[in-house]
Parts: sequence; structure tokens; C-alpha cells
Amino acid sequence: MNIAIIGSGYVGLITGLCLSKQNNIVRCIDLNTQIVENINNGIPHFFEEGLNELLADELEAKRFKALSSLENIDIEIELIIIAVGTPSDNSGDIDLSYIEEASKNIGKFIKKNKHHISIVIKSTVLPTTTDLFVRQILEDESSKKLGDFGLGMNPEFLREGSAIKDFLYPDRVVIGWEDKKTKERLEKLYSPWDCEKIIVNSRTAELIKYTNNCFLALQISASNEFANLAYKIGNIDIEDVMSGLNLDKRWNPKKNGKRLNPGILNYLKSGCGFGGSCFPKDVKAIRNYGIKKGLKMEMARSIININNRQPAELVKIMEEIDNLEKLSILILGLSFKENTDDIRESPAIQIIKQLRNKVKKIFAHDPMAIENFTLVIPPQKKLEYVKNWENFVTRSDVILVLNGWKNFKKLENFDLRKKYLIDPRRVFNKSINVKKYLTIGLNNKS
Ligand code: UGA
Repeated sequence: MNIAIIGSGYVGLITGLCLSKQNNIVRCIDLNTQIVENINNGIPHFFEEGLNELLADELEAKRFKALSSLENIDIEIELIIIAVGTPSDNSGDIDLSYIEEASKNIGKFIKKNKHHISIVIKSTVLPTTTDLFVRQILEDESSKKLGDFGLGMNPEFLREGSAIKDFLYPDRVVIGWEDKKTKERLEKLYSPWDCEKIIVNSRTAELIKYTNNCFLALQISASNEFANLAYKIGNIDIEDVMSGLNLDKRWNPKKNGKRLNPGILNYLKSGCGFGGSCFPKDVKAIRNYGIKKGLKMEMARSIININNRQPAELVKIMEEIDNLEKLSILILGLSFKENTDDIRESPAIQIIKQLRNKVKKIFAHDPMAIENFTLVIPPQKKLEYVKNWENFVTRSDVILVLNGWKNFKKLENFDLRKKYLIDPRRVFNKSINVKKYLTIGLNNKS
């Protein structure tokens, strides 16, 4: 199928390349000409596992190209996928300005095109955005009616750090459609994928995406609330509590005498809270949306409130160990999770802001994210960003591990007997030989 993707950011570029790998001809459109030029030279503008190789392969196969405008398209397209950002505004409302601009441009484009094109939203958007908001713009700009063009919604479930795998081996594909031709096109597009397909209307597809992210965020906040409680009580390891939970047959049923072991319980690690470009913005957007519809949205409020407080819970733990003013701290991990250079809403931001004036010195390291992070918190007297973290272990009293990059495991090779290790991501075994091992959800009192 010939496809144009509007937006060559994280979702757009990965989607475009994975669809190209499936023998589709893909054109990724981005207004930023520097990004377009770099992509066409095989240089992606963000880090993602396997992305460089995939981009090189698809450029070489000549199935894939980036362009700076839909007007420059060099193939006859059947499908346009909108994959632009849908950020939060200051109040947490979804900002649809990129969707609006993309829809206007597409409307103008389909006005001039005689053949039937389906427009499919992949960006995370609130229910009715596709079938009311986008449809209206497309109809106004093109002077055509739904049916003359197609419309659908096909949410993504890509996790940063494993996005290519998530696309190529999905749990399910959700196809939201507003006209039969689009439904058939999407079914054909995803026919090589041997997974369950959920075929629904666009607003259901939109709500599936929000419900999915909010349920995951809810479970993280719930596990954090219980972890905070376990810490207060003392001599409880929240991991044991989670193992107990794991054996309930409603969570983890038996099949042929064996546990199915749902991944959610491996995913859940109570700690410093969630970050990233999705969970915080999506929970806030659905909260505000529900409130506007006259609901209280108490669950969504609590998810956010617990998450906002979690960095302070971690700082409190650190304040209990000693007089922080005397201590130098080595922070390992600045991105919102390992295997990405993305620092958006990273818990490390709040933690460093809260710690920097309380401690003697912070040495901060991340394998990929230092450059991005310094744009948010520049280096200062008490905060130094370090490339070779191994050189700062001996000089630090406390080691605080905020994400799980593989390379941090090298810490086990050091003599840590005089060090405090704070490990909210549970990267290390709690029996590691340190002065004191501490984390959210584990407070061994003697
Ligand atoms: C998330 C969803 O997992 C994807 O399914 C979804 O497609 C994506 O958002 C999106 O909407 O585009 P992502 O934000 O990349 O993906 O990352 P996750 O691995 O889900 O982690 C999110 C945050 O939660 C990270 O900061 C992680 O460290 C944190 N987390 C995760 C916890 O704090 N505790 C946990 O128990 C699990």
C-alpha cells in the first residue's frame, strides 16, 4: 500500500519504518527540513533501540523516504496516517493544534486529488476527535463528504525503548473506522500481523487507548501507595507483597497446572513514579475531559496526585539516612526510563530539583540523556553532569539509581561497603554488600 505519514516524530517515524519493512511504500512528512534531511541521510533525530539499522535498511530498499510537505508527494497514496504530537497545555487539557493543522493540510490535499484516500489518526486523541473534530475540518477544507474520503483511528501501543518490537509483534491491533473502505484498507494493511484485531468505531478506538494507559498508570500509582505504606510500617518488602498478589488466580490463572503469569506484575515496580510523554499527559487529558462532561474523575485525579508526590517520598527516605548536607550523591539515570534519551516528565527532574540545595554535591549521569537533561536543569555549583560515572563512585556517599540502564550493573564490581544505595527501580539485589540498601517499599529496621 502507498502511505503518507504526517509527523516524523517518535510514533510517526517508527510506524513509517515498520510499515515500510512490511513492503509498503511510505513517505514520512515533517515540516522541519533539517529532520527530513537527516532522516534521508540515515540519521534519526532521537535514540531508539534498532532504529538506525531499520532506517538504513528501508532507505536502501527504496521503500521509504522523508519529505517536507504533502505537496511534494511522489506516489499515489491510498492512506494518510496522522502521527503528530498531542501535548498537554498548562491546565492538562489536550492541545489539538498539530492535529488541526495536519487535518487542514490534508483537507486541501484531498480536495485536489480525485482518488479515494483514507485518513487515519494514530496520535492519542480523546473520544470523538476523529469522527467529529477531524471529520469537520476535512469536510470544510476539501468541500467533500465522508465517503468521498475515508476516516479511521488506529491507536499505537509503543513503549519507548522497545517500540520497534512492539510494532512488529503487537499484542493486538485496534482498528477504528468511519467508512467501509477505510476498514477494509486497515484490515488489509495489518493482514500480515497474526494477532487479535479489535474492529470498532473511532471513538471506541480512542477510548481503548486512554483506558489502556490510565489503567497502567493507575496500577503504578496503586503499587506506589502500598510501597509508601510498607516503608512506613518497616520490615516489609513490597516485592513480597506483589508476589502474594501475583498468586491470586484472578490475576494469574492456572492453565494445565501452570501459572499464566501475566506480564503486568513483572511490569509493576513501585518506585519514584512514572514519567514520559504519555502517561502523565494522557491521565491529565482524560481527567479534564471527564470533568468537562460533569464527572468527578476521582481515580484520574488520584493517579496524578500520587505520582506527583512520589519524588518527594524518595527525597524523604534520603533525608532519613543522614544529614544530607554532608553527603555527595551519584545519580545514575536521568531519562524517564532506560534505553531512551527522552527526559520528558522524568522523575529525575523533580528529584534533582528537590535535592540540589540540600546536599553537598550531586554527580549526575545517564548514558544517553545528559544533553537533553541539561536543557532543563543546567549544570550548577552543586550539580555536575559526569560522563564516566565509574570515576565518581569512590567520591560519593550515596548512589541513587533512577533508571535501569544495563551498564549500571557494573556498580556491583565496586567496594560499596561504605555507600548508601537507593534503588527505587529495583535494579540491584537487596542483599548487595552496601552500608545500607534503601528503596521505596523496603525499610529494614534493626
Ligand atoms: C506507555 C505505554 O506503556 C505504551 O503501551 C503506550 O503505547 C505509550 O505509553 C504511549 O501512549 O505512546 P512508555 O511511556 O514508553 O509507554 O513507557 P512505559 O514502559 O509504560 O513506562 C512509563 C513510565 O512508567 C516510566 O517512567 C516507567 O519507569 C514508569 N513505571 C513503569 C513505573 O514507575 N513503575 C512501574 O511499575 C512501571
